[in-house]
Amino acid sequence: MANPKPSSHSKLEITRLEAADIDAAIETIQLAFAGDPFADWIYDRSKFSSKRNHASLTIRMKWGMRNGHIYVAHTPERKCAGVAMWVGPKPLEEGPTWDDWWQDWMLWFRQLGMNTKFGRGGLKVKRYYLWKESQSKLQSSVWTNPEGYWFCNILAIHPDCQGKGIGKKLMNEVFDIADSEGIPCYLESSKFEPNVKIYEKMKFRFVKEVKCDDGDGACTLFSMIRDAPIKGGEEESSSESSEESGRDVDAIVDAVTP
Ligand SMILES: CC(C)(COP(=O)(O)OP(=O)(O)OC[C@H]1O[C@@H](n2cnc3c(N)ncnc32)[C@H](O)[C@@H]1OP(=O)(O)O)[C@@H](O)C(=O)NCCC(=O)NCCS
Repeated sequence: MANPKPSSHSKLEITRLEAADIDAAIETIQLAFAGDPFADWIYDRSKFSSKRNHASLTIRMKWGMRNGHIYVAHTPERKCAGVAMWVGPKPLEEGPTWDDWWQDWMLWFRQLGMNTKFGRGGLKVKRYYLWKESQSKLQSSVWTNPEGYWFCNILAIHPDCQGKGIGKKLMNEVFDIADSEGIPCYLESSKFEPNVKIYEKMKFRFVKEVKCDDGDGACTLFSMIRDAPIKGGEEESSSESSEESGRDVDAIVDAVTP
C-alpha cells in the first residue's frame, strides 16, 4: 500500500514507517519495553543481547512493512517518538494464501539466520512457544467476528513522550480505517496497570486474561477489543470514569481468571 499523506496534529507528524525510520523506531520500542513484564518473563535479562533484539525487530519491521501496517509518530524533537504495528483483518474461516505462506517462510529463514549469527540473546525458547500457544488459544476463544480483527501487535511510545496524547493519535490512524470498514480492533497487553485504563480511553474493552506459566514464572496477557461502531445506530458511551471502569474490570478479571 502506498504511503498515505502524512497527517499533522500541531507539531506531530504521523506517517507509514519507511526503511530509514527503522533504527529510530527500534530505539523507541526497546526503551518503551524496558521493564515490561512480558519482556522480563520471556528474556533472561542477564543474557539479553540488545544487538540480537535489534536484528529481530528489524526483521519484524521489514515483514510488517510488506505484510502489515506500521505507523510512526515524529515530533520536532524526536524521530519515531511512537510506533504502532498492525496486521490487517482476515476472515476467520480463511486459511493462509500462498503469499502468506511464502512470507511466513521468508520470516522463518531470516529468523533462523539471525539465531545462527547472534544465538538466542537471552530469549527463553520454551517460554516463547508457551506464549505462542497461549496467544493462539486466547485469540480462538475471543475472536468471534467472522470478518476478523485489526490486530495491534506493537505499540510503543518513547518514555519521554508518554502521556502526551501521541499513543491515541497514532492509534486513530487505524481506528479511522477500522471504523469505516466496520471491523473491530484487538490487542494484548501484559500490563494491567495502567494499560487497561489507557486503552479504555481509546474505546477498547477488556475481554479476557490468560496466564502463561511454565512452573518457574508466569506472565499474564490481557486481551482487549475495540468494537466497530454500529452502522446507523447510536454509539455506546465509553465515557465512564476510569474509577468506575477500573472496578468493572477488576470484577471481570476475577470472573475469568483461568
Ligand atoms: C501504553 C502507551 C502506548 C500509551 O501511549 P501514550 O501516548 O502514553 O498514551 P496517551 O497519552 O495517548 O493517552 C491516552 C489516554 O490514556 C490516558 N492515560 C495516559 N497515561 C495514563 C496512565 N498512566 N494512567 C491512566 N490514564 C492514562 C490519557 O490521559 C489519555 O486519556 P484522554 O483520551 O482522556 O486524554 C505508552 O504509554 C507506552 O508505550 N507504554 C510502554 C509500552 C507499552 O506498555 N506498550 C503497550 C503494549 S500493549
